[in-house]
Amino acid sequence: MFGQLLLAGSRAPLVRRAVSGVPLTRKVVDRFVAGETVQDAVGAVRRLAGAGLTVTIDHLGEETRDAGAAAQTAEAYTVLLGALRELELGDRTGPAGLTEVSVKLSAVGQALGADGDKIALEHARTICEAAHAAGASVTLDMEDHTTVDSTLGILRALRADFPGTGVAVQAYLFRSEADCRDLSHEGSRVRLVKGAYAEPASVAHQKKNDVDKAYVRCLRILMAGKGYPMVATHDDRLISITETLADRFSRARGDYEYQMLYGIRTDKQQALAGAGHTVRVYVPYGDDWYGYFMRRLAERPANVAFFLRALGGK
Ligand code: FDA
Repeated sequence: MFGQLLLAGSRAPLVRRAVSGVPLTRKVVDRFVAGETVQDAVGAVRRLAGAGLTVTIDHLGEETRDAGAAAQTAEAYTVLLGALRELELGDRTGPAGLTEVSVKLSAVGQALGADGDKIALEHARTICEAAHAAGASVTLDMEDHTTVDSTLGILRALRADFPGTGVAVQAYLFRSEADCRDLSHEGSRVRLVKGAYAEPASVAHQKKNDVDKAYVRCLRILMAGKGYPMVATHDDRLISITETLADRFSRARGDYEYQMLYGIRTDKQQALAGAGHTVRVYVPYGDDWYGYFMRRLAERPANVAFFLRALGGK
């Protein structure tokens, strides 16, 4: 219930101004965000790579209705990918490659009316080209349910030239089992998440237990399929079910990977990597952190307590 309120707040301009205006908010944001600049993102990549982890980097930003802002976001990704290219962090290509970027299509034009899909596709293509040159891959984040068909359509168009392009699927949506079936073919990279948006009961499971059960059904489809599952969760129960399914479907450690968010369960990230798994950390950077931050608060009441304590100077 409280989580739903925070998610509603993540879209309310008044709440945004109030939360962003508190100077100490930044201190709390830093727990979840690597920094504001490309240098901050590159620094985080170096640190994580040094600790045996792989990364997917998100240039923070969400739905825009301004064509100039969409173009700027695409440009920010090409600058980032240029910097990653210089890094020479080793030669780990293939599905489990060291670097990936995560892209929200709404930030590169998807919401720009009738031409939105076309503009988002063009910008996403530019990002894929820069990623290809940098030896990195691209995964499309999934946003609210109204964007899913558009995102999957753009994915199909991108895969014609960049077959390694991946996509996130949200287990809480009723449609996702069917989407997982469609996406479980050879070469397909699918990041399975529970889902982080406030969705109506007409399209999505509302109870945590139902979402978890739906996650297991989707996971089973992906692990039994021919693609490369990217199991994005911090949930110990789901991680242990993944291991059972890996045994059942004879998937070796490099045939799937785990993904977690920057700053969340870092001990578990290290433990899985230490046990020989590919673990990819989702690293957000940039100054448009508000929506991302509010979703992280909504996921866990303890984060709100942490936030309030920090505001109180403790
Ligand atoms: P759950 O929320 O049940 O958490 C399990 C445990 O993990 C908690 O008990 C706690 O210990 C820890 N935990 C989880 N969230 C935490 C938090 N915010 N702070 C502190 N601890 C926390 N969603 C989406 O809609 N579209 C997308 O494209 C993506 N992309 C994405 C990429 C990656 C790499 C990850 C890991 C997640 C996403 N998500 C996402 C977010 C996802 O939908 C979901 O909201 C979060 O991962 C939380 O769900 P869990 O599976 O971790 O389970």
